[in-house]
Amino acid sequence: MEITVVQSDVTEIEADVLVVNLFEGITSPSGAAGVVDSALGGLISELISDGEISGSASELTLIHTPNSAYPNFKPSRVLVAGLGSSKGFNTDNARKISAGVIRKLRAVGVQSAATIVHGAGIGDLDASSSAQAVVEGALLGAYRFLKYRTTDKQRKSDVAQFTIVESDSAKISSIQTGVDRGIAYSEAEVLARDLVNEPANKLSPADLADTAIRVATENGLDCTVLEEADVTALGMGAFVGVSQGGPRPLKFIHLTYEGDKPNAENNLWLIGKGITFDSGGISLKPGAGMGKMKGDMGGGASVIAAMQAISRLKPQLNVHVVCAATDNMPGGSAQRPGDVVTAMNGMTIEIDNTDAEGRLTLADAIGYAKSKDAVRIVDVATLTGAARVALGDGVSPVFGNDDELVNAVLETSEAVGESMWRLPLDSVTKRQNSSKIADLKNTGGRGGGSTTAAHFIADFAGDTPWVHIDVAATSMLDSTRGWMTAGATGVPTRSLIELAMKLAK
Ligand code: BES
Ligand code: MN
Ligand code: ZN
Repeated sequence: MEITVVQSDVTEIEADVLVVNLFEGITSPSGAAGVVDSALGGLISELISDGEISGSASELTLIHTPNSAYPNFKPSRVLVAGLGSSKGFNTDNARKISAGVIRKLRAVGVQSAATIVHGAGIGDLDASSSAQAVVEGALLGAYRFLKYRTTDKQRKSDVAQFTIVESDSAKISSIQTGVDRGIAYSEAEVLARDLVNEPANKLSPADLADTAIRVATENGLDCTVLEEADVTALGMGAFVGVSQGGPRPLKFIHLTYEGDKPNAENNLWLIGKGITFDSGGISLKPGAGMGKMKGDMGGGASVIAAMQAISRLKPQLNVHVVCAATDNMPGGSAQRPGDVVTAMNGMTIEIDNTDAEGRLTLADAIGYAKSKDAVRIVDVATLTGAARVALGDGVSPVFGNDDELVNAVLETSEAVGESMWRLPLDSVTKRQNSSKIADLKNTGGRGGGSTTAAHFIADFAGDTPWVHIDVAATSMLDSTRGWMTAGATGVPTRSLIELAMKLAK
């Protein structure tokens, strides 16, 4: 999809379809819809008074406006997108609507379309963020993972040309800024989706490392990949223990972006769980739905992908991305329940359940970040099935030891429309991780499964400001919801990009 910004009167725009919008309850449209309405002799007002258009959210009405009938109106069709209530209209609404629009356009076989930015008029959004949301909605809403579909040739192709049209020349440059950001944010989120959707036989730890190396090469970043011998030498017994049950070599990925080189301490470490397949290990998972565990590197995918956008947007901040990538397999040399491993920071861990592997790999990734003087750590992990039990699949639980960093994460997640909610790290659940034989055990028993996992990681973060985002329920969806298409969502890639931008200010 090629996205361009054009200054033009909407009646003059060169496109198969012009997309305008309407808030609920409006009887005589204003703005672009008003201009179109007049050019079409009051056709839209008539459809409103006839009750065919109400402006309700996600209502889409396609009107044919052939040149023979409307010689002074260039587009041959108009799509009126309902925006719902103008009260509380935000960029998230705009993003959702744009996603619905782009799929509708594809469904009717449109190749080129122009749209105004949603909500910049009565909705009161600034033109730049509204444009960003429209672009994100289009690029994310149109997303499909078709790489392995070779036979269905009937499939409709994507909209090729998408134009943002604005008549006011004073708004063009801020719209262009929003569009550029929207493209960078979305392309990153799409990269994360592609990695998560990729089957485990096509995406090994080495393939994930190759992706990180490619992102680094394309964007002038430094990328270090440590091998098993290297991480063993560093004392990463928790990470190595997870890896030893399968034949594919582990990779420890470290990407560096230096946006503030003279001030090394002005840094943010983004750590992503990178389990390229989670069978559960010796504590084997049940068969049903196990295929979804190809996506257990969703955290790693999102931090690597976020780095792609960060390196393009160049915030004044040093950003480090770490992903301890490995399979979790039940081979003959796999670790056993009851084993004790020693993490990089010297703490000993009793392996109570080999399926609680994510926290083990994160423990050593955090140990590494701390050994390199991390000042702020944010980890992202498909960590616990309990996240879905707690908050469903629309909101990711967040934990942390530093209110300022937690709030920064929550604010950015809100700004980009990737819902998160903070849960407490209370002292009662913390005790559930105690072991009789080691410093800690890797499970916390019944109750508060997401919290006990977070407590485990907190012990390794220590007093370094740290936030943990559990995306187990939000990283993949069974069916399409707004800009989140079925399969991988790419969440929380855009939040991480936004966080880096915010912390740089
Ligand atoms: N990768 C899973 C968590 C998960 C579950 C992600 C469902 C996505 C969808 C994680 O490694 C895991 O297996 N967690 C266990 C922990 C338990 C053994 C303490 C869980 O949630 O059941
Ligand atoms: Mn597991
Ligand atoms: Zn896992």
